[in-house]
Amino acid sequence: MKIFKDRVAVVTGGASGLGRAMALRFAREGMKIVLADIEKDALGRTEKEFENAGYPVLAVRTDVSRGRDVDALADKAFKSFGGVHILCNNAGVAPGGTIWEQSEKDWEWTLGVNVWGVIHGIRAFVPRMLEQNVEGHVVNTASVAGLLSPPGMAMYCVSKHSVVTMTECLHQDLAAFGAKIRASVLCPAFVPTGISDSERNRPDALRDEKAKSPVDLQREEQLRHAVKSGRISAEQVADLVFQAIASDKFYILPHQRIKPAIETRMQDILLERDPTNTLNKR
Ligand SMILES: NC(=O)c1ccc[n+]([C@@H]2O[C@H](COP(=O)([O-])OP(=O)(O)OC[C@H]3O[C@@H](n4cnc5c(N)ncnc54)[C@H](O)[C@@H]3O)[C@@H](O)[C@H]2O)c1
Repeated sequence: MKIFKDRVAVVTGGASGLGRAMALRFAREGMKIVLADIEKDALGRTEKEFENAGYPVLAVRTDVSRGRDVDALADKAFKSFGGVHILCNNAGVAPGGTIWEQSEKDWEWTLGVNVWGVIHGIRAFVPRMLEQNVEGHVVNTASVAGLLSPPGMAMYCVSKHSVVTMTECLHQDLAAFGAKIRASVLCPAFVPTGISDSERNRPDALRDEKAKSPVDLQREEQLRHAVKSGRISAEQVADLVFQAIASDKFYILPHQRIKPAIETRMQDILLERDPTNTLNKR
């Protein structure tokens, strides 16, 4: 995509973390911004911040796991700004835990936001973006958890592997149609954001009062520490996303040091050997 000024970007999970940083990066290019998020207060704060900076912005409270909400988001975005050129399906949650200890509600929440959220985004926006017949770009936020399968992260890995393949398939389908829209998948490792506190956004109806095992509690603490210690900032990731859109780059892997772990997993598959615990090898 080459023209950004006066074009429109929709970012889900845009109230904080990576989504907020991407939206700001696009706003600095002169784009009009639609922020979608479930977290009302954070959404209001970020909207104000954009308004104060003089950026055209529309904030839409959205639960991306609900198809109706995402359809309504698309209607508002197209109606308010007359088009959509960048769509970032970025909203996500990251509960951890041993695979057999996760409840139906745990799975429903995680897959609802991380997988259905992206499905709804593609379904609600891409046909209308194609109709515009102008350049556009869809960025889906996966994770390196979409390229690896370490212990204690099953639901998150299942959801993010799904986002990786969904985006690869989107790329193929767009190419097969000769579309002017391109796609990218963002696969960061640890970036300091609010992701370790994603339970804050779990709807009450999908909450379990089950105690976590000591192993899972310890892993949760390790992950929280790893996220907090992430050396690449949300702003740096947003910059890489912008560069990828501007140069039609598909895979966005901000953390170069994770690549040997990805290579090991690929080798495990090709050599038909047991999966390596790549977290231990780093
Ligand atoms: N921070 C990291 O280390 C990291 C690494 C890899 C991938 N990611 C992915 O990056 C994306 C953004 O996360 P982040 O790190 O900025 O965390 P974050 O918690 O700061 O931001 C996530 C945003 O998504 C919103 N959200 C949650 N559930 C929602 C729902 N149902 N509908 C709409 N919005 C919802 C939250 O309110 C929040 O604003 C996620 O998909 C996450 O899985 C993060």
